[in-house]
Amino acid sequence: MLCPWRTANLGLLLILTVFLVTANTSWPILMGKNAVLCCPPIALKYLIIITWEIILRDQPFCKKAYKKETNETKETNCTDERITWVSRPDQNPALQIRPVAITHDGYYRCIMGAPDGNFHRGYHLQVLVTPEVTLFQSRNGTAVCKAAAGKPAAQISWIPEGDCVTEQEYGGNGTVTVKSTCHWEGHDVSTVTCHVSHLTGNKSLDIELPPG
Ligand SMILES: *[C@@H]1O[C@H](CO)[C@@H](O)[C@H](O)[C@H]1NC(C)=O
Ligand SMILES: *[C@@H]1O[C@H](CO)[C@@H](O)[C@H](O)[C@H]1NC(C)=O
Ligand SMILES: *[C@@H]1O[C@H](CO)[C@@H](O)[C@H](O)[C@H]1NC(C)=O
Ligand SMILES: *[C@@H]1O[C@H](CO)[C@@H](O)[C@H](O)[C@H]1NC(C)=O
Ligand SMILES: *[C@@H]1O[C@H](CO)[C@@H](O)[C@H](O)[C@H]1NC(C)=O
Ligand SMILES: *[C@@H]1O[C@H](CO)[C@@H](O)[C@H](O)[C@H]1NC(C)=O
Repeated sequence: MLCPWRTANLGLLLILTVFLVTANTSWPILMGKNAVLCCPPIALKYLIIITWEIILRDQPFCKKAYKKETNETKETNCTDERITWVSRPDQNPALQIRPVAITHDGYYRCIMGAPDGNFHRGYHLQVLVTPEVTLFQSRNGTAVCKAAAGKPAAQISWIPEGDCVTEQEYGGNGTVTVKSTCHWEGHDVSTVTCHVSHLTGNKSLDIELPPG
C-alpha cells in the first residue's frame, strides 16, 4: 500500500489543515495480515518532527520519533519488533505491522510537526480473528453449532428456528467462543442449517437429524 504524502504541496497543505487536523479512522484488520498506517499527506520538506504514538492494551505507551534537523530516530517504550517504520522516515514516515497479531488492538497516531502547527492522523485498529465453526449432534435430535475463538464474537442463527440455548465463553486473549445448542421437538425437521455470521465472513453448515 502506498501513502499519498508524496503528492502534497503547500496549497494542498492549507486545504488539508481544514479536515485532516484530528482525523481518526477505525480499521478492522484480519490477524496475520500486514498493515501500513499512513501519516497525513504532507510533504516532508515542511516538517520538523514526525512522531508515532502507539497505545496498546496492557503495554506501556510507545513513541517513535524522527527529527529532521538531526536526521535521527528515537524510540521510547517500544518493545514489539513487528511494529516498525516502513523505511527510513526521511523517505516515508508510514508505520508498518508485520504481521498483525491479536495483541495489536489499539490506537495508533501519527503526528507531523510543521512550523505552523501539528497534523494528526489516528487509527483505531481492531484485530479480527476468524472463528472455527463446527456443527455436530449431541443427544437425539439436539444439534450443537460452535464458533470457536473468534474476534469479535460471531452470531449464530438456525434454519429452521429451534429451541436454542446460546452460551459465550471468553478466551482471555480477546477471542470469544459462541455455542448454540438447539432442539426441534414436535416439529417435523430432518435437516437443519447453522448460519454463522462474522466480520471476517459468513459460513453455513448443514446436519441431518434422526427421524422422530
Ligand atoms: C481520536 O481517538 C483518540 C483516542 O481514542 C481520542 O483521544 C481523540 O479525541 C480522537 N479524536 C477525534 C477527533 O475524534
Ligand atoms: C514508558 O512507559 C511507562 C510505563 O507505562 C510510562 O509511565 C512512561 O510515561 C512511558 N514513557 C514515555 C516517554 O512515554
Ligand atoms: C539520514 O540518515 C541516513 C542513515 O541513517 C542516511 O542514509 C540519509 O542520507 C540521511 N538523510 C539526510 C537527509 O541526511
Ligand atoms: C436415540 O433414541 C433412540 C430411540 O429413541 C435410542 O435407541 C438411542 O439410544 C438414542 N441415542 C442416544 C445417543 O440417546
Ligand atoms: C485465544 O485463546 C483461545 C483459548 O482461550 C485459543 O484457543 C486461541 O487459539 C487463542 N487465539 C489466539 C489468536 O491467540
Ligand atoms: C453475513 O450475515 C449477516 C447476517 O446474517 C448479513 O447481514 C451479512 O450481509 C452477511 N455478510 C455477507 C458478506 O454475506
